Amino acid sequence: NTAPEDIDIDECMNSYTHIYSPDLLQHGCDTVIASRNLEKLTEAAKKLISATGRRCLPIAVDVRKPETITAAVEESLKTLGHIDILINNAAGNFLCPVTSLSFNAFRTVMEIDTMGTFNTSKVIYDKWFKDHGGSIVNISATLGYRGQALQVHAGSAKAANDAMTRHLAVEWGPSGVRVNTVAPGPISGTEGYRRLGGQIAETAGAYRSIPLQRAGNKTEIAHAVLYLASHAASYVTGAILVADGGAWLTSAND
Ligand code: HXC
Repeated sequence: NTAPEDIDIDECMNSYTHIYSPDLLQHGCDTVIASRNLEKLTEAAKKLISATGRRCLPIAVDVRKPETITAAVEESLKTLGHIDILINNAAGNFLCPVTSLSFNAFRTVMEIDTMGTFNTSKVIYDKWFKDHGGSIVNISATLGYRGQALQVHAGSAKAANDAMTRHLAVEWGPSGVRVNTVAPGPISGTEGYRRLGGQIAETAGAYRSIPLQRAGNKTEIAHAVLYLASHAASYVTGAILVADGGAWLTSAND
């Protein structure tokens, strides 16, 4: 139960000890990173290029707007030639009681998390995976398993995504497309941790109630995603892999 190396800020790690074969993804992989903010993306892409020596293409996308996804997928295919893996991790979240949550706030989170995952998966399937196969990994959460307070918007959206994982796995399996999900618990050094009170919970000792008695780190989630994305999981589809140190089993509101 020792955490692997990580870095607590939005930077690349200075060193990394491989726990899988370094050529698990055919000697690493080129990446496309997408979000609404091209300035932040461009900076992140520069860091990734210098840390990995691989290509990284930053493209502005709003996952609520299918036409921006279509343009991004076309640009990616033109530049990189093929797409093997899609990671759906666009999400919006904040803590808010139902009484204060506006109709628009609930809709906004559903649109980013659920419609965004559907839109992106469908565009990539139609434009590439349908004919070439591929692997999709969605990033979910355990919030809805026990109805965590202040999280009806994100919990509902992620529950829909978990169902979507199974539906797409069934429909797209015959085309050689695997669809799986990782459901992380509290993960240090992330926007979710900052927004959802992770630091406060840690200082208050709340993570001692987690069976593994600590928050997770980003490297641990990367390892879970890499497993599902890669050929190591060649017979795994429609699975939800919970990577939360056992947290949801013992506490609904940590
Ligand atoms: C209540 C809020 C709110 C808040 C926004 N809203 N923030 N309501 N509390 N803190 C309301 C607004 O008032 C508005 O409703 C509606 O939500 C839409 O807000 P906009 O700012 O116009 O929308 P948009 O720019 O699209 O922003 C979306 C967002 C934002 C979700 C609200 O926070 C965002 O884009 N975040 C992106 C990054 C992010 O959240 N990452 C962390 C994911 S963590 P009205 O009615 O006023 O118009 C995560 C971890 C999961 O997912 C769990 C791990 C354990």
